[in-house]
Amino acid sequence: MTVIPTRHRKLQSLAETGYVTLKRYAGHLDPKEWESLEYLDWKSGGDTNFAVLASAKGDDDPRGFWEHGMPDKGGVWTSNARLAPTLCDWVTSVGANFGRVRIIKLQPSIDKGTVLERHLHQDDNNRLNPEPEGWVVRVWLNLTDDPGSYMILREHRDDPTIEHRVPLPRGAQFVVDTERLWHAAYHLGPEPRYALIASFESGPALQAWMDDQRSPGVVRQANPGETAAAPAAAGTAETR
Ligand SMILES: [Fe+2]
Repeated sequence: MTVIPTRHRKLQSLAETGYVTLKRYAGHLDPKEWESLEYLDWKSGGDTNFAVLASAKGDDDPRGFWEHGMPDKGGVWTSNARLAPTLCDWVTSVGANFGRVRIIKLQPSIDKGTVLERHLHQDDNNRLNPEPEGWVVRVWLNLTDDPGSYMILREHRDDPTIEHRVPLPRGAQFVVDTERLWHAAYHLGPEPRYALIASFESGPALQAWMDDQRSPGVVRQANPGETAAAPAAAGTAETR
């Protein structure tokens, strides 16, 4: 998909690389909040299931908001939300308008080549998003501790020279313009990886939260040279 320049409001902090890594979430994450949810058989290029915390109408519906004629904002909590109070609090603590909120359950990847070949993709967060409202981006909170796994981010699908890798330990938080960057998670396993993925509208509230969550001295962008030694292997798709 070619990204066409728009007049949406975008964050300057994402302009250079299309993503920002933040400090790790410091609160307690209780597996009951994601393991007890209702998961749907929703495949998005890999062996994935999704639990929906917020949808367009509050139904247990994993589809894009555009299916309801809506941009990816104004999400309504689903019945899963009452089982995941900490995760819902995390979403609302950002303070920005949120849309789809889901938990991804990702089975271990097959190999990195499969991830690159089949699963790298761009999202379509801004379908029906009117200009000049805020550009919708995605924020991740990694729930399980998967330090050997990482999110692959590429500016161009077939150009490995501009590739960033975001490690996925428990509590990892990062913001990605997923309509700009090609992305897919490579997950070592052996257990499934769980992560919260939420759509947020770009604007002062999101930027303020990002500023608050940026740890002193953190490297905002991964250097491909630094991460080149990351284990090469299996991969599975992230979500559209
Ligand atoms: Fe995606």
